[in-house]
Amino acid sequence: MTRPIQIAPSVLPADFSKLGQEVADLEAAGVDLIQWDVMDGQFVPNLTFGPDIIKSARQHCNVPFEAHMMVYTPDVMAKQYIDAGCSRLIVHAEACTHLHRTLANIKELGANAAVALNPATPVSAIEHVLDLVDLVLVMTVNPGFGGQAYISTMEPKIAQVRKMINDSGRGDEIELEVDGGISPTTIAGAAAAGANILIAGSALYRDPEGLEHAVSDLRARAQAAIA
Ligand code: DX5
Repeated sequence: MTRPIQIAPSVLPADFSKLGQEVADLEAAGVDLIQWDVMDGQFVPNLTFGPDIIKSARQHCNVPFEAHMMVYTPDVMAKQYIDAGCSRLIVHAEACTHLHRTLANIKELGANAAVALNPATPVSAIEHVLDLVDLVLVMTVNPGFGGQAYISTMEPKIAQVRKMINDSGRGDEIELEVDGGISPTTIAGAAAAGANILIAGSALYRDPEGLEHAVSDLRARAQAAIA
């Protein structure tokens, strides 16, 4: 069984001078959760949200927060982001020398543990942690910035991960998330390939009919693709 479709924003395109209002607006627009793209300026050439920023936004909405940790030291930072209000941490397989231990530590801290794969990273990297994770994130851009083009050649990889998840026996527990270039023209391919959580940043904020329309339109397109 595949988990239900969820639409989640990246807040990268939001107005950082009023993040409390921005997350309240996203909740009102009907998002299922909010993803914070945490970047350390080393793993990716960009620097974004510290835990205190997320903590201050936490009080302005009730939807779950997840931190997409595009950082080289997730073990050092994990507790701070969980204490800031993130109920799921997504670490990059490429950044973790001891990925199994990192994921186990996140679970011991009381959060959901998830793993992300950059476009060039083979799915074999997650083969031995599917008993630990609650989500696998397949990147459809090279991480670091919003507004990039969707890499459609990742769709067979999404399907591969979906099969691995289902073959693991945890198909009704593990979410398959896709992040990068998700838009009205690309979301159907990602959903049809097996993704059930779709992260959108620029496509949400550039919809001329507003956030609520953007969220419902993306959800409808994803659901139609798997009907
Ligand atoms: C890349 C970021 C982006 C962001 C989504 O590091 O993770 O993928 O979340 O941005 P868009 O939807 O504009 O590609």
